Amino acid sequence: MLKTLLLTGAAGGVGQSLRPLLSQIAESVVLSDLTPIKDLRPSERFVACDLSDRSGVDSLVNGVDGIIHLGGISVEKPFDQIMQGNILGLYNLYEAARAAGRPRIVFASSNHTIGFYRRDERIDSQAPTRPDSLYGVSKVFGEAVASLYFDKFGQETLSVRIGSCFPEPRNTRMMATWFSPRDFLSLCGCAFETPRLGHTIIYGVSDNDEQWWDNSHAAFLGWRPRDNAAHWRREILSKTAPDDPNDPAVVYQGGGFVTAAHPED
Ligand SMILES: NC(=O)c1ccc[n+]([C@@H]2O[C@H](COP(=O)([O-])OP(=O)(O)OC[C@H]3O[C@@H](n4cnc5c(N)ncnc54)[C@H](O)[C@@H]3O)[C@@H](O)[C@H]2O)c1
Repeated sequence: MLKTLLLTGAAGGVGQSLRPLLSQIAESVVLSDLTPIKDLRPSERFVACDLSDRSGVDSLVNGVDGIIHLGGISVEKPFDQIMQGNILGLYNLYEAARAAGRPRIVFASSNHTIGFYRRDERIDSQAPTRPDSLYGVSKVFGEAVASLYFDKFGQETLSVRIGSCFPEPRNTRMMATWFSPRDFLSLCGCAFETPRLGHTIIYGVSDNDEQWWDNSHAAFLGWRPRDNAAHWRREILSKTAPDDPNDPAVVYQGGGFVTAAHPED
């Protein structure tokens, strides 16, 4: 059990889904975001912080003994926004952690680091990255910083290439990519408990019938996802038009990010 966990990006979709579960892994939680959070539980406190503000991030990280880093831009956006949230913000977080005793970090990376692999390819975490967006490139940067900071400074990180983390799957792609908040929480628990984490990359995905990713390199974590998107399969198929197998958004793992225009065009 952690004494104090820092959750960045706490006001976002994933942060809000994880919040009610965090008492399973931490005695107290510092929630941080640009957007204020008012409905605080007794174990929570809120600190507003822009991740691009170096001294703000230094104070935020000081005194915590684990970090779940969700904060930043979570979809394709113009590069200057991505640079502030996901490049500078990520760097500030790692520098703050290095100065504050290296609390372990669970970094919310993304399947968009590898979105240009086809859905009929099964890849593991050692496959070369093939980002499908500027956003995906920023997550590759984050994983690279995590790798450097472990090899050079001993900062441990679990980089979780999240598939689609929502309370329920929403479309046919999520039959393969869905990651339940409950499975994410149990994965975070493993990351903070395992004796040696190093810098490990894992695909954040539930125990879905349809699987594109091989997590065998992270088997030492002993993590067992329990949820399965197949439970919603019939309902989703009944509500959606059949996929066009020639659509690049269906051919490639990154879905719509693969076909999205450059955000500055
Ligand atoms: N939801 C998913 O399925 C999914 C999939 C892959 C990766 N991820 C990653 O997981 C994380 C959480 O995703 P989400 O869906 O909750 O995203 P979200 O956009 O709902 O939440 C992100 C939060 O980060 C905050 N933020 C943005 N820029 C910031 C800055 N400069 N300083 C401080 N806070 C800032 C936003 O205010 C927001 O509340 C993101 O890093 C995202 O890239 C999510």
